[in-house]
Amino acid sequence: MKSVASIKGHPIHPMLIAFPVAFLVSAFGCNLIGALFGMPAWWTTGAWLALAGIIAALVAAVPGIVDYIYTVPPNSSAKTRATWHMVVNFGAVGLFIVAWILRGSASAEPGGAVILLEAGGLVLLSSGGWMGGTLVYRNMIGVNHRYADTGKWSEAHFENNEDVLTVARTDELKANQMKLLHVGDKRIVLARTENGFAAFDDHCSHRGGSLAGGVLMCGKVHCLWHGSQFDVNTGKPCAGPAERDIGTYHVEISGNEIRLTL
Ligand code: FES
Repeated sequence: MKSVASIKGHPIHPMLIAFPVAFLVSAFGCNLIGALFGMPAWWTTGAWLALAGIIAALVAAVPGIVDYIYTVPPNSSAKTRATWHMVVNFGAVGLFIVAWILRGSASAEPGGAVILLEAGGLVLLSSGGWMGGTLVYRNMIGVNHRYADTGKWSEAHFENNEDVLTVARTDELKANQMKLLHVGDKRIVLARTENGFAAFDDHCSHRGGSLAGGVLMCGKVHCLWHGSQFDVNTGKPCAGPAERDIGTYHVEISGNEIRLTL
């Protein structure tokens, strides 16, 4: 699952999405101008731009689906938003595909139905884009951030068939750095504070933000979605809007290994 970590660190999907947006918006503009003023060169260009936009959208969807499965925190407001983002964007591409099929060939003049379908596609695309922007800028999906001391995002996967797991070496993390542990279907954060190690659920009790994607400071983890803060040892909220504790786990050091008790 190394590739998942690299996807968390590099916003591939938000970068690729610029291409289908540019192609599909231009396609609609060219088709509209061509149809309004009877200019075949414009509507033929519009047809090929629409096809390029459809292909680019399907390519951009691949890292988007990977992000949806692996990066967006489960049971969170971002997961719901990401589901709608995906449905709306597929709907937009679907409308452009129907418009292309209805048209029959690139040189055929686009009728009113084609123009209307593409206009509907753009409305959906704008709505999907708004949600995508929220996912990136508020929910920080795909944002390549750093912990203290330029610590990089790191994660590891474990089977959930033992009560005590060795999850890291003691020299792996510096103070105020974190590591995301996938234990079976649980997401647990291993954190190093100035006073030692702590482990807690990667699930903000407000709306499910990833705490591994937050900031660790002075024994508290800050959720970047809406600003809640939690004591990493007790799990108690120190600042809202979260009101409920987060789950914590016992960790101990054995030699140069860190052991987590589930
Ligand atoms: S999800 Fe809202 S503060 Fe964490």
